[in-house]
This record gives sequence, C-alpha cells and structure tokens, in this order.
Amino acid sequence: MLFSPFTMGFARLKNRVVMAPMTRSRAIGNVPNALMATYYAQRAGAGLIITEGTAPCINALGYANIPGLYSKEQVAGWKLTTGLVHERGSKIFAQLMHTGRMGYLKNMPAGAEILGPSPITAGGRAVKNTQRSTDYHLPRAMNHLDIVQAKSEFVSAAINAIEAGFDGVELHGANEHLIEQFLSAGSNLRQDEYGGTAENRCRFALEVAASVGEAIGFERVGIRLSPYGANNDMEPLEMNHTYDFLTKGLNAMGIAYIHHVDHSAMGGNTVPDAMKQMVRNNFKGAVILTGGFDRTTAEEVLQAGLADLIGFGRPYIGNPDLAERMQRNLQLNQELDVSTFYSAGPEGYTDYPGFSK
Ligand SMILES: Cc1cc2nc3c(=O)[nH]c(=O)nc-3n(C[C@H](O)[C@H](O)[C@H](O)COP(=O)(O)O)c2cc1C
Repeated sequence: MLFSPFTMGFARLKNRVVMAPMTRSRAIGNVPNALMATYYAQRAGAGLIITEGTAPCINALGYANIPGLYSKEQVAGWKLTTGLVHERGSKIFAQLMHTGRMGYLKNMPAGAEILGPSPITAGGRAVKNTQRSTDYHLPRAMNHLDIVQAKSEFVSAAINAIEAGFDGVELHGANEHLIEQFLSAGSNLRQDEYGGTAENRCRFALEVAASVGEAIGFERVGIRLSPYGANNDMEPLEMNHTYDFLTKGLNAMGIAYIHHVDHSAMGGNTVPDAMKQMVRNNFKGAVILTGGFDRTTAEEVLQAGLADLIGFGRPYIGNPDLAERMQRNLQLNQELDVSTFYSAGPEGYTDYPGFSK
C-alpha cells in the first residue's frame, strides 16, 4: 500500500511516503537557497514533502538559520525548491512554524520578541545555535492585538507560500511551538476566550486554520499535532477532550490533512492507540502519522486504516532516495551524522549517496 498513489483533495500523490518536516538550519540569513533546493529535489521520490519549519514573521525566527516566508527574497528563494520538486513529480507543502516561547533572541533580528500565550518560561534548554544551549526567555503574554497580528502573519505567509509555488501549507501545531503553546494547559493559563477550557485553548489553532483556509483554500491546508507531546501537561481525560474537540473542528472546516506524531521512538511519550483511532474517526480528510516508522511498520499502520500516509523523518536525512530504496527492498543507510543535523553547508545534508543515483 505504501507505494500506491493517493488522492488528497486536488493533489494526486505518487505514493504514500511523506518526507516529514525537519529543521536543517541551512537558510543563511533566513532566505532559502540553491543548496536547500538540491536537498529537497534529491528527496522528491516521496509522494509529499513537508518542508522544515518556516517562519511566518520575525517573532517566529527562534532557531538559527531557519527559513521564512515573509519577504520577497524568501518567496524567490523557495521558488528554486518548489520548481525542482515539482519537476521530479512530488508535491510540497511548507510547514509554517512560529517558535513562540521556544525561541532564543540572539537568533532573531532586532525588533523581534519572544511571545507566548502566558508569561511562563519553557522548560528544558533553548537552542542558542547549533552547538550550545541556554535557558529559555520569559515570553511576553500575547494581548488581543498580538493574536490578531499572529493570525494575519500566518495568512500572509500562506499566501506567499502559494506564490512561491507550494501546493499548500502545514500549520505547525505540534512539538511545543506557538499553536501548541495555546493548546497546552502547561503553557496556557489565560483567563480570556483563548484559555481556561479545552475549547478555549483550541481557539487559536482553529482560528489560524480558518483564516489560512479562507485565504488559500481549505484543500491547501494541513496541520501537525502532537497529543501526548512533552509540553502538554494535561491529564489523559483532558487530553482526549482537547484533541476530540480540535479534530472535530478541523474536520468541519474541511482542511486537507491532519499530521500527527508519536515521538516514542525519540524518547517521547507513547501515544495510545485510542488517540490515533480517535483522530482517524473524527477526521474525514487525509491522516498522516509519523514517528519511528520503517517499511514494515508503515504498511501495518496503513493496512490497519489508522493513517493514509506515513511520514519519515530521520530516515530521509541519510537516504535521499528513501522511497525508492524501501520499494526495492534495498538496504537503508542507518549511519547519520548528528553533528551535521543543524550545521552549515552540504556536509551531512546533500552528500548522502543515493542507491539509484
Ligand atoms: C533534525 C530534525 C529536525 C526536525 N525538525 C522539525 C521541524 O522543523 N518541524 C517538525 O514538525 N518536526 C521536526 N522534527 C520531527 C520530525 O518531523 C519527525 O516527527 C521525527 O523525526 C520522528 O520521525 P522519525 O522517527 O521518522 O525520525 C525534526 C526531527 C529531526 C530529526
């Protein structure tokens, strides 16, 4: 099944292999470049590519050398990638990622701010640059104007994405970024209509999805979610209620897909099967599941009907022709150089050899 085509709204995907979004920090000056276009084009054997997290505005640039989609140069830079990927027969969505309270000011241009739903510092360590880390900043709690502004930044970045040749956008509502910071009881202590109840914590996510969908078409919008992710700080019952409400709301809007993750293979919490089943039951569009998959486990999940498409992250770093290798049952390169995950230049990026190239 993994290698059978799949129709996702207007887009016919040549197979059900998805390249999962991965920050690689090669966008020097936050502008996508020819090296990145080569990297994505090498991986266009996937039916669908989702780009690395891409900033919709300067407040979202919390990590070093991540690309954006808020300037003409960035739109022009992304055209190199979308052109090559389309030439090679794959579809590509841009992941719109707002780092919110996860950002580090030294990565960000003058005038940028660390924002969050509530003035609560993230746990853990911020990514200062590729080598070192430091404590997170205390975010400024977003007021109503900030919320309106952030929504309009997602919208203009989505419009820019279409201009840059993307097939659609994935809203990053997972892994402790701004949208999830609103969803999570641990980072959202607001007492207005954006906090307090599960329904209110879902409001920002639903409003962003609705505004972006109205601007570029709901069939061009996906969202990434990470129930049971590290930052959720929710009791299981509340977790179920939150994601039940959210996924039903997204279904009513008719967005293209929900992409959810189980990061237990990376040391995260295991997502119970009941959650995966709930997402499937609530959402009639495409479901993508990512986290720790190989060909065999991907087939199992597709056969069980829990997902339509399977995302592969780390396997795509070291195997530019992952889809072809899996299809031909060729051996995968398991040797990844972690020190080059977020470094500069082609090393550990575009120099992993393909089997068939
Ligand atoms: C180097 C690296 C960068 C990542 N960057 C992002 C990102 O920008 N956005 C995102 O949603 N997930 C990101 N992830 C998570 C992956 O998309 C994926 O969910 C995770 O690697 C688990 O899938 P895997 O077991 O197939 O690697 C990243 C993972 C890695 C290894």
